[in-house]
Amino acid sequence: MKLLHTVAELRSALAPGCAAFVPTMGNLHAGHLALVAQARAVAPDRQSSPVVVSLFVNRLQFLPHEDFDRYPRTLESDCAQLREQGHCDIVFAPDEAELYPEPQGYKVQPPAELADILEGQFRPGFFTGVCTVVHKLFNLVQPAHAVFGKKDYQQLMVLRRMVAQMGLPIQVHGGETLRSPEGLALSSRNQYLSAEQKAQALQLSGALRALLAEWRAGLRDRERMEGEAMDRLAAQGWQPDYLTLRRQHDLGPAREGEPLVALGAAKLGSTRLIDNLEA
Ligand code: PAJ
Repeated sequence: MKLLHTVAELRSALAPGCAAFVPTMGNLHAGHLALVAQARAVAPDRQSSPVVVSLFVNRLQFLPHEDFDRYPRTLESDCAQLREQGHCDIVFAPDEAELYPEPQGYKVQPPAELADILEGQFRPGFFTGVCTVVHKLFNLVQPAHAVFGKKDYQQLMVLRRMVAQMGLPIQVHGGETLRSPEGLALSSRNQYLSAEQKAQALQLSGALRALLAEWRAGLRDRERMEGEAMDRLAAQGWQPDYLTLRRQHDLGPAREGEPLVALGAAKLGSTRLIDNLEA
C-alpha cells in the first residue's frame, strides 16, 4: 500500500479511468473499511484496478461554529487499519495547501431542491463544500468506481445526481450503514460521546423506527407524527433538527406506495448525530 501526499505523486501512480475510489475524512472505523471492501469487490483485479482511499478533512464543508478544528486526524492508525485489511492500494492524504493551493473560488453548487433541505437546511453550504471537494478529488483520481455510505443518505443522493448531471464517467455505489451490535450507526463523531451518551444515542434510530412503524400501522398525518417524534426525543434530552419520513427517490414527502426512508438529525450535548432507516 502506497501513502501519497501530493497530486503529482497521485497522477504518476494512477492511469485514468481505472481506480475504485473511497473518499473519506479519515479517522477510519469499520463502516469506512466496509466501503473499502466493497470497492475491492467491484474492482477485483488489483493490477488493473487499484483501490484508492482519500483522507482529507475538507474545511469547505464545515460552518465556522462546527467541529473542523477538533475533527480527529489520525493518519497513522488510519493507514494501519487499511494495511491490516489489505484491500487498499493507494492512500491519498493531501494537506490543505496541496488540495487548495489558492482559495477555492470555483465551487460546485448542487440544486436547492436537493441540497437546501434536511442537512442543507441546518448546515447551509454543506453540500456545496462536499460537491466541490468530491468533484475535485474525482478529477485528481479519475476513478471508474466510487463508493459512498448510505449513512449519509442525502450526501449519496446529491453526489449521484452530480455525477449524472455532469456526465462524469464514474459508477457510484452505495454501501449499507454499519452499526454497533446495539444498533448505533458507526461515526467518527461517536467518540465525542460519553459512555452514558453512547447508550442514549440509540434513541435516535429508535425514533426513526417508531416513525416507520406508525406509517406501517396506517397513520398518515405525517407532520403531526414528525412533530411528536421530535417532541419525544427532546423530552429525552436531545435537541432535534429534524425527524422525517421521505420517499427514497428524491427525498420529497413520503407518499403512499413509494419506497420510504426515515431520516433524522439531532444533537446530544454538543455532538450532532445523523441516522436514517430505509423502509
Ligand atoms: P466521512 O464522514 O469520513 O465518510 C466517508 C464515507 O464513509 C461516506 O461515504 C460515509 O457515508 C461513509 N460512512 C460513514 N459512516 C458509515 C457507516 N457507519 N457505515 C457505512 N458507511 C459509512 O462523508 C464524508 O466523509 C465527506 O463528506 C466526504 C464525502 C469524504 C467529502 O469530504
